[in-house]
Amino acid sequence: MKRSLGVCYYPEHWPEAQWAEDAARMAALGLTWVRIGEFAWGLMEPVEASYDWGWLDRAIETLGAAGLKVVLGTPTATPPRWMLNKHPDMIALDRDGKPRGFGSRRHYCFSHRPYRAECARIVTAMAERYGKNRHVAAWQTDNEYACHDTVLSYSQAATQAFRDWCAQKYQSPQALNRAWGNVFWSMDYASFDEIALPNLTVTEANPAHVMAHRRFASDEVVSFNRLQVEILRKHSTAPISHNYMGQITDFDHFDVGADLDIAAWDAYPLGFLSDRLAATPAHKHRFVRQGDPDFQAFHHDLYRAVGRGRWWVMEQQPGPVNWAPWNPDPLPGMARLWAWEAFAHGAEAVCYFRWRQAPFAQEQMHAGMLRPDSVAAPAYHEAGQVAQELAQMPDVGTARAQVGLVFDYASAWAWETQPQGRDYSYFRQVFETYRGLRRLGLNVDILPPDTADLSAYPIVLAPGVATMSQPLLAALAVHQGQSLIGPRSNSKTADFAIPLPLPPNLPNLKATVARVESLPPDVPVPLTLGGNFLHWREKIETSAQVLETTTDGWPALIAARGLQYLAGWPDEAALSRILQQLCHKAGIETDPLPEGLRRRDTETHQFLFNYNAVEVEWGGKIIPAAGVLWQKLP
Ligand code: GAL
Repeated sequence: MKRSLGVCYYPEHWPEAQWAEDAARMAALGLTWVRIGEFAWGLMEPVEASYDWGWLDRAIETLGAAGLKVVLGTPTATPPRWMLNKHPDMIALDRDGKPRGFGSRRHYCFSHRPYRAECARIVTAMAERYGKNRHVAAWQTDNEYACHDTVLSYSQAATQAFRDWCAQKYQSPQALNRAWGNVFWSMDYASFDEIALPNLTVTEANPAHVMAHRRFASDEVVSFNRLQVEILRKHSTAPISHNYMGQITDFDHFDVGADLDIAAWDAYPLGFLSDRLAATPAHKHRFVRQGDPDFQAFHHDLYRAVGRGRWWVMEQQPGPVNWAPWNPDPLPGMARLWAWEAFAHGAEAVCYFRWRQAPFAQEQMHAGMLRPDSVAAPAYHEAGQVAQELAQMPDVGTARAQVGLVFDYASAWAWETQPQGRDYSYFRQVFETYRGLRRLGLNVDILPPDTADLSAYPIVLAPGVATMSQPLLAALAVHQGQSLIGPRSNSKTADFAIPLPLPPNLPNLKATVARVESLPPDVPVPLTLGGNFLHWREKIETSAQVLETTTDGWPALIAARGLQYLAGWPDEAALSRILQQLCHKAGIETDPLPEGLRRRDTETHQFLFNYNAVEVEWGGKIIPAAGVLWQKLP
């Protein structure tokens, strides 16, 4: 597989006279891909049913003539203003029942059936016109599902669709009442038509109701996307992608990904560090111009799984962005490092966002590869360097990792629905585990929650999976390697009740979680071998082997054959020790890395990425600040 670079471009933002020169510069720089179209509904169809394809025909032709391959986006994230005159009720309503206004983007409700029909219409028109176009080499559906908190809508359309979903799933109101435990506060329903969405209740809604709503909302994204995919496939053989985001768990990406050929994601390392990542101020300070050393890699590995091996970075930060609390300038070298890190994790393509900084509208403070005056900005030169390096680099391949780490979207919903402690976050729990593994220099594959075969992985981890699937439990029962499960794993039924017998109900493990407690930040539970449990701990009754205890005398880590169960959320020191003993048992050598240095082995090469602002020495090599080193593996 030849790895390649690309860029996001908005021909409609620039005079047509400029397109040919832009295209020539992109090609000369060594770019292969150009993504266009995803917000241009208003130009494609300025007035209802009156299409204007001329400009898009010419843009595609100009880009293609320069040798570029086009990724064409469907424009359904930005329905034009006239659409609202036609369908005033297509707007999503927020939790408080307030409509989300026109004047930005993503103002639609996934459940509004007439809006879906409008989407089908524009996608059909595009697919008919460009499905066989020789320059259109890939598609993108919509843009960033879930961006700006847009999966959950409390509209009338969503209410009706949720009732239908409940009727399909439970068949009778009585079955739904039983599954949800509606007897609890006289919450029984006599008919599906009585069921509302779980907002605006006096105190918290039934968590089973909330979880059902989360599953429904995820399914709505899946069917919304599938509608477009089915149309595109009728007219085109080009691969279809969607651009996902960082640390967004509002829908099941594995389910959406199952309908697509390529999983893509939008990587804004400095924006994420400033805006999303749970980290200490010292950590944010240290990596302020580089981004977190594990955040990008985690998503590369996640989306490699979502794309079943095929994945891209569709948008790569090129300089300061406009949307985070603070928007610093990346350190020189980072626009190159980020791209190489993606390739080392198996990306087929990395596209920078965007070609030229727009002098107008919402993102005028967002850098591009060019300044608004068309002078090259730093990312232009760094991308050029990557293009030259790629031309000389043989395929770097993707290696099978030593560790499989389960990631489950439904668990993110479960622990948002019922965190039990204010700072319990499933994403954070898995991400900290991932960071611990990467600090030891390990390669990680993310695994979907229904993985049925673990035999390729000497080590498997599944922290916090609320309801473990039957295939996963069966695979664990016959797994020959080491596994680490918990805390909080397998502690809910699919309908969100406490299972009986009590958790964790894992193969061959005689253990009962007798009590759980969440812990305020200043109440750690020390472990006898060092480190602490934070946020969460469990008191376990067991006849299994106890490998570690807490200083107050409870089992902290227990084992039955290769399966270990962890009874709390370990801090960095405890996690590092526990992972190292696991690796030792699995016969894997570990080599802890200096802070901010990360390693990724492909089939052929070892890559080192220095996320520090200073050079680092490791294994006799000096890795420059914001630098990348690679060497051929023996
Ligand atoms: C992404 C989005 C782009 C642009 C970019 C700015 O989330 O897909 O359209 O808004 O952020 O960083």
